[in-house]
Amino acid sequence: MNQEKNKDALVCINGRFTPPEEAVVSVFDRGFLYGDSVYEVTLTYEKVPFLLETHLRRLDNSALGIGMNLEWSPTQIKDLIQRGLKHFENDRLYIRIMITRGAGEIGLDPGLSDGQNLYIIFKELTPQPQKYYDDGVSLITAGILRNPKKSVDPNVKSGNYLNNVLAISQAKEKGAYDAIMLNAEGNVTESTTANIWILENDCFITPPLEAGLLGGITRATLLEIAKKNNFQVKEENFTPKRVCGAQEVFITSSTREVMPVTQVDGQVIGNGKPGPRTRGLHDLYRQYIQEVIGQEKKKVPWNHD
Ligand SMILES: Cc1ncc(COP(=O)(O)O)c(C=O)c1O
Repeated sequence: MNQEKNKDALVCINGRFTPPEEAVVSVFDRGFLYGDSVYEVTLTYEKVPFLLETHLRRLDNSALGIGMNLEWSPTQIKDLIQRGLKHFENDRLYIRIMITRGAGEIGLDPGLSDGQNLYIIFKELTPQPQKYYDDGVSLITAGILRNPKKSVDPNVKSGNYLNNVLAISQAKEKGAYDAIMLNAEGNVTESTTANIWILENDCFITPPLEAGLLGGITRATLLEIAKKNNFQVKEENFTPKRVCGAQEVFITSSTREVMPVTQVDGQVIGNGKPGPRTRGLHDLYRQYIQEVIGQEKKKVPWNHD
């Protein structure tokens, strides 16, 4: 494919690179028909994908969670990503890796599939507005629940996000940035595409995986960073009421890093400004990104010449 450098998006389908306008998916693909797919999102810093191997491990884990043995190895996917990145000059890219159970005769039975499909979307990263970090964002508590772990486990990053789509619609209707999703017990799980944290008595608290949530890679990294820095930190269930009464609240994800929350269900958190402990943790996370990217640049030929 003759794709010029610096185009702002590129798609790879089953190993073949194509401009987005020519990227065609079968209407019989089970990802399209049933959300029968798994996916990952990562991004680059200084042209290097951040924690790619960890994302590929989670992709594999998500696939196992829906009984799919991936037909692409992490090395093959990494190689395609390396090739895709060579088409860009941008330092900051968004990379979405999706594997569907494939196309075939219409019917729920996975046995009808004639083989998995791999899609990788590369596009320029649209950074979150700085205002969100300076002022904090607002959340509402959604009326729609996160799936229980005995349905499709929320720890599986599948292509079926309909509960989350409905939850964020409720947030947007109320002019909020995002929505907190509860489980059937009334405890907080996470937001629609990020993990949630509160600071209470100077202790960072995030719900445990057992609450029914996606084990975010940013969440796991921050748990490590907090422990390493001797911060008080724990995984514990909490209710929306505790969120509203917390000293500080923030959400975390690969694309957002650490984003302060200053309003929940119309109630102001703390003094209504992003908290110092949230900022401190974000600074440490940014330092960690720099360290990892520095090491990756030495280790892997992320060579764009
Ligand atoms: C439901 C959900 N929770 C949490 C996260 C955050 O995960 P990560 O930190 O790995 O980006 C995401 C990311 O998209 C998500 O979709």
